[in-house]
Amino acid sequence: MTIKEAVKLRRSIRRYKPDPLPDDLRVKLASLASQCSTDDISIRLICDDKACFDTFLAHYGKFENAYNYFVLMGRKGADIDEKAGYLGQKLVLETVMSGLSTCWVGGTYSKGKCKVQPDKDERIICVITVGYPDCEGTKHRTKPMDKICSVKEADMPVWFRNGVIGALLAPTAMNQQNFHIDLDGDEAVITAGAGVFTKVDLGIVKYNFEVTSGHKCR
Ligand SMILES: Cc1cc2nc3c(=O)[nH]c(=O)nc-3n(C[C@H](O)[C@H](O)[C@H](O)COP(=O)(O)O)c2cc1C
Repeated sequence: MTIKEAVKLRRSIRRYKPDPLPDDLRVKLASLASQCSTDDISIRLICDDKACFDTFLAHYGKFENAYNYFVLMGRKGADIDEKAGYLGQKLVLETVMSGLSTCWVGGTYSKGKCKVQPDKDERIICVITVGYPDCEGTKHRTKPMDKICSVKEADMPVWFRNGVIGALLAPTAMNQQNFHIDLDGDEAVITAGAGVFTKVDLGIVKYNFEVTSGHKCR
């Protein structure tokens, strides 16, 4: 599977097969997590934890057998939400290419029961569940292009249009798609609206835009 295929195939999965992940896969996922970590953002894989998603909120959010997850932590002060979104989405797409499913989770889990606790100068930004899917998931509703982009579709360069389509396939918190894409000369500029998790969403959307357009964006 290519990364562009992964962008199209990915959808949030909240119900997983209960079987433990095989050892070789754990090694691979842990290695992907460390490859996607930086000085500011640390990503850790936790396996076989039945507590983090054993809360009212998680059950309300319909999570089942979510025993494996990545924890994304950042150093307070740096522009960590957008960075975590960007690096986390890289990890999500690599994970999908390995045949597994994921779901970004910012709210419906227990931070207190999470097996990784941040140092004083860090905070947990999100977790991402990972595992073999036990359901198919659904394709999310997307906003029309003209609601998130001021360039008319007919005037879009091909690479830019591909990027906009990729951005609309990105996961965003509560599927809010609260971002805007513009063209400044030959550079795409993506900005976040106000609201919960929109900076994390921004990083995710930028990553999707870049892999589907083949162009860096600002
Ligand atoms: C930053 C972020 C936080 C999210 N938090 C939650 C959450 O707390 N609980 C949940 O069930 N889904 C959560 N999601 C998943 C979104 O609801 C989902 O990505 C969106 O509805 C689009 O659906 P899709 O991922 O299947 O394309 C979150 C997604 C993102 C990007």
